[in-house]
Amino acid sequence: MNEKKLQILVLHGPNLNLLGSREPEIYTTTTLDEINQALIKLGGEREAEVTCFQSNHDGKLIDIIHEQQLWADGVIINPGALTHYSYALYDALIAIAKPIVEVHLSNIFKREEWRHKSVISPACLGIITGFGPDGYFMALRVLLKKLRETRIQD
Ligand code: DQA
Repeated sequence: MNEKKLQILVLHGPNLNLLGSREPEIYTTTTLDEINQALIKLGGEREAEVTCFQSNHDGKLIDIIHEQQLWADGVIINPGALTHYSYALYDALIAIAKPIVEVHLSNIFKREEWRHKSVISPACLGIITGFGPDGYFMALRVLLKKLRETRIQD
């Protein structure tokens, strides 16, 4: 049987466009484009379509979530600093009622205290934090697995 490809929306928040040059000792020397291309490739190998967006504005990320809600089967999000205070982004994620995985390149629990709280996590299946770009690839694998498990149960 020819199953419809799963469709995954990947969202990156403020300052993640600077990956590669931004505090590389904390984040990575990998660029955002390299991460996105690797996610698209990994998705392709697993019969899934991946679309990536980055914005420095929470309103723009919220617009994308609204626009893509019918397209996306699941979402991977690194909200950047919005993680720690954007109730508007949390509300948008809760509103679409999709499986969501939160990703952080750095281990937010090992850093300044204000980074220890995520207001986004309660909208998510889980959180992957501290594994650099690999965190995104783990998130894609686990999200596809979860989505396929729920498909079988339906
Ligand atoms: C981040 C962690 C946030 O605290 C920070 O504001 C970021 C990146 C991460 O990927 O480690 O911009 O989400």
